[in-house]
Amino acid sequence: MIEKTLVLIKPDGVQRGLVGEITQRFEKAGLKIAAMKMVWVDKKFAKKHYAEHVDKKFYSGLESLITMGPVVAMVLEGVEAISLVRKMAGSTDPKSAPPGTIRGDYAHISYDYADKKGIGIKNLIHASANEKDAEKEIKLWFGKEEIHSYSSVHDVHILK
Ligand code: PPS
Repeated sequence: MIEKTLVLIKPDGVQRGLVGEITQRFEKAGLKIAAMKMVWVDKKFAKKHYAEHVDKKFYSGLESLITMGPVVAMVLEGVEAISLVRKMAGSTDPKSAPPGTIRGDYAHISYDYADKKGIGIKNLIHASANEKDAEKEIKLWFGKEEIHSYSSVHDVHILK
C-alpha cells in the first residue's frame, strides 16, 4: 500500500521556475520526498528512460525535451503514491488535463499541436505509470544510498 514513485520535473518545468510550486503540491498532499536531485541527462540516458517509446514517431521530440536542460528528479513515497501522483499530474496531454491538476493548471499545449510541429510536448512532469515502471525508473535514476528512510509528520496519521 505504501508505494514509491518517480517524478521528474522536466526541463520546461525547471526553466519556468515551477520546481517549488510543483513540489509543494506533492508535499501538501502528504507525500514524503525520499530522494531528490538535479540532473542534466544525455541522449543515451534518455533512451534508457523512454526505452519503450524510442521507436515511436514522437520520440525525437521527447528526447529533445528531456535533454534540453536539467531536470529535478525525485522519489515520492506515500499511500498508493503511484496513482495519486498520476491523478495530481493530470493527463499527459495537457489539453485533456482538468483544472486543478498540475498539467491542467500550468501547461497549455496539445499532442496534436506538438506532433504537427515536431516538438516535444511541454507537459512539465513525468510520473511513473505503474508499480513495474516505478521500480525500474527509481533504479535507473537513483542509487540505493540516495533514497532516504525517515519519519515525517504524516507517518503519525498513516502508520499503525
Ligand atoms: S505514460 O506516462 O507512459 O503512461 O505516458 P504515455 O501516454 O505512454 O506517453 C509516454 C511519453 O511520451 C509522451 N507522448 C507524446 N509526446 C508527443 N506526442 C505524442 N503523441 C505523445 N504520446 C505520448 C508523453 O508525454 C510521455 O512522456 P512523459 O515524460 O512520461 O510525460
